[in-house]
Amino acid sequence: MKNREKRTERRPGTSGSPRSGRPRPGGPAKGEREAGSVAGGRAAAEPAPQRPLIQRVGERPSERVPVILESRGAGDFHLIDSGNALKLEQYGPYRIVRPEAQALWQPSLPPSVWEKVDAVFTGDTDEDGIGRWRFPKEALGETWPLSLLGVDFLGRFTSFRHVGVFPEQIVHWEWMKQQVESAGRPLKVLNLFGYTGVASLVAAAAGAEVTHVDASRKAIGWARENQALSRLERAPIRWICEDAMKFIQREERRGNHYDIILTDPPKFGRGPNGEVWHLFEHLPLMLDVCRELLSPNAVGLVLTAYSIRASFYSIHELMRETMRGAGGVVESGELVIRETGIDAGAVGRALSTSLFSRWVRE
Ligand SMILES: C[S@@+](CC[C@H](N)C(=O)[O-])C[C@H]1O[C@@H](n2cnc3c(N)ncnc32)[C@H](O)[C@@H]1O
Repeated sequence: MKNREKRTERRPGTSGSPRSGRPRPGGPAKGEREAGSVAGGRAAAEPAPQRPLIQRVGERPSERVPVILESRGAGDFHLIDSGNALKLEQYGPYRIVRPEAQALWQPSLPPSVWEKVDAVFTGDTDEDGIGRWRFPKEALGETWPLSLLGVDFLGRFTSFRHVGVFPEQIVHWEWMKQQVESAGRPLKVLNLFGYTGVASLVAAAAGAEVTHVDASRKAIGWARENQALSRLERAPIRWICEDAMKFIQREERRGNHYDIILTDPPKFGRGPNGEVWHLFEHLPLMLDVCRELLSPNAVGLVLTAYSIRASFYSIHELMRETMRGAGGVVESGELVIRETGIDAGAVGRALSTSLFSRWVRE
């Protein structure tokens, strides 16, 4: 895993500011905040310093494509039905209707089922469009308890139609849980763009040492609430409120390593100091740095990509190029959720949710 490759002069981004800062073992460095101690609002946009890409040598890892990772739900979640650009989901006690552009077909279940729901998100149907929640039966609170893969957390009606968890990730979380439990040593997991922390909690509950990074103080606050709900306060989780690109480059300079890295970036996002994240612009460097962060016995590097105009091949080939010389296998394809009807026992249609590519040691 140790790199013997050269750094090229090709810079993936427009800003090529030189490296700054020296490696610091442990503890937050300049610009990085252990979540909970953050203050202040968003500053003016600040480009994250970027290093050149490393020119990789060696064989590309072998490949498995296409791989469709399918979830039929778990714990308190399942997909009941979909159609007419909507999906009907069960989250614990609540049935929820949300926009779903991929559901081009007609619903399987009759309107009477779709009408008897607890919450409906209406408004902008863009992935991150602002809209509002309507509660046809009775007004509901902002949060409610949920459980998945042995972890307790809060479902949450957010203004961006999200509900505090991305259940299509369940397949990756199950894989990670199994890796952590069977490793025979404590694995170090890095969860980038970690949102409300469900993946971090699943990893910690399985016995991993976790570093969770997200730019949103609010999301990290929710993640900490979830940590308490899951009774994992004593678990070794570092909550970092920081721009993901800045954080990983600092980790690289410090020489820190991880056994599993999960990265689930949005198409577009901002760090706490206004740092801009553009998937198409920054993903090559993100993977490049993540490779350097993998420990010599690393188990996997898992990338998910949502709502982008790309084939899974684009992230697949990028992953294989990045992992040249590392051995292992890169498998890529789509994450889908299967409709399972009202009682979670049926086998309905598969709803595609995202692209993924993962390097695994095997
Ligand atoms: C798609 S969600 C991740 C979902 C999460 N992995 C899960 O499965 O629950 C995107 C997250 O990325 C965070 N984010 C956006 N831009 C960021 C940046 N530049 N650095 C770090 N996190 C960022 C957002 O705050 C948000 O929580």
